[in-house]
Amino acid sequence: MNAVILVGGLGTRLRPLSINTPKSMMPVVNIPFIEYVIRRLSRHNIKHIVMAISHLAQPIKNYIGDGRRFGVSITYTVEDTALGTAGAVKNAEQYLDGETFVALNGDIFTDLDISAMVALHKRRKAKITIALIPVEDPTFYGLVETDDKGRITRFLEKPSREQITTNMINAGTYIMETDVLNSIPAQTMFSFEKEVFPPLLQKGEPIYAFPSSCYWMDIGTPQKYHQLNRDLLNGESNQFNFTANTRISSGKNSNTHRTAEITGPAVIGDNCTIGQKAVFNGAVVIGSGSTIGDGAIVEDSVIWQNVEIEKGAIIKRSIIADNCLIGSKSTIVDAVISDNVTITADYNLKAGSKIWPDKTIG
Ligand code: GTP
Repeated sequence: MNAVILVGGLGTRLRPLSINTPKSMMPVVNIPFIEYVIRRLSRHNIKHIVMAISHLAQPIKNYIGDGRRFGVSITYTVEDTALGTAGAVKNAEQYLDGETFVALNGDIFTDLDISAMVALHKRRKAKITIALIPVEDPTFYGLVETDDKGRITRFLEKPSREQITTNMINAGTYIMETDVLNSIPAQTMFSFEKEVFPPLLQKGEPIYAFPSSCYWMDIGTPQKYHQLNRDLLNGESNQFNFTANTRISSGKNSNTHRTAEITGPAVIGDNCTIGQKAVFNGAVVIGSGSTIGDGAIVEDSVIWQNVEIEKGAIIKRSIIADNCLIGSKSTIVDAVISDNVTITADYNLKAGSKIWPDKTIG
């Protein structure tokens, strides 16, 4: 079976993390996000994947290549200007062989059972099947109403509080017949949610829901990206398991001083050094090549690669991207720090700061 993954968005809400790193290459527990998505499709026997990328997405191509090492084959379609969710899939039509296919937003981490979803789609002879998941606050999402047989009756994009009639939202995974693409103009910005699904529903096409309450998280914002890392470390998804029952995993050539206090859950990448009496509290991820100095405290934070946190620094509820230097005894709380940033020693960064790449602060 074929799939199209949409990975050509700008990721503006994820800034400043997404300035130098495409959303799909964000490290999630030290593995680029897109790798989880591809491996999951492969496990569901989806072996040919079209990656709908933009011209900014060379790092994705460099990392994924032809897909062989993930057990799939990959084709890339590149958009000169963004074509929107439907326009991007239309652009991939020639690679879909006229067969039922899966389309998915490339920024969603989920345990959704795609095989069961495909089976339901075929049993119902649906034109489109849309995965739905429940959320607490649906106002930021596209709501989907269904009848008692699971057939979709109405779409409601980003509703106001008074309009909310369901907490089931579009989970960004679709099974489709290729003739759906006939209603989409070529090389034109076009949206499934706004311009394809509602008119097809009006025409009476069979569009069904596949509701699920499995793990689901989009990484659209730094907060959600952080939450996904936390959730995986806390065992919320079946796609991540600690092998050691201590819930602490340490990569090759990493050295944690025997006096360091790591309560876990924590994942430490390769070639890291954790100094004397360093303390980790809560869910902590440390990327490869990073150093945590003596007596530094890292709490509920995600640190990317080649970051140096000098002795006595305190990092809480923060994300620190590649190649940053945090000076000794500095304090970083609720911050999002992009790549190549230096925070000088003894500096108390204002809580909630977002720091753009290549800056020196202090
Ligand atoms: P924001 O700029 O923060 O809204 O992020 P985004 O650009 O990624 O948009 P959004 O979160 O709505 O996109 C959902 C998914 O669709 C993401 O995986 C995007 O990469 C993808 N996507 C959005 N627009 C396009 C597009 O024009 N072309 C392609 N190929 N993918 C897109």
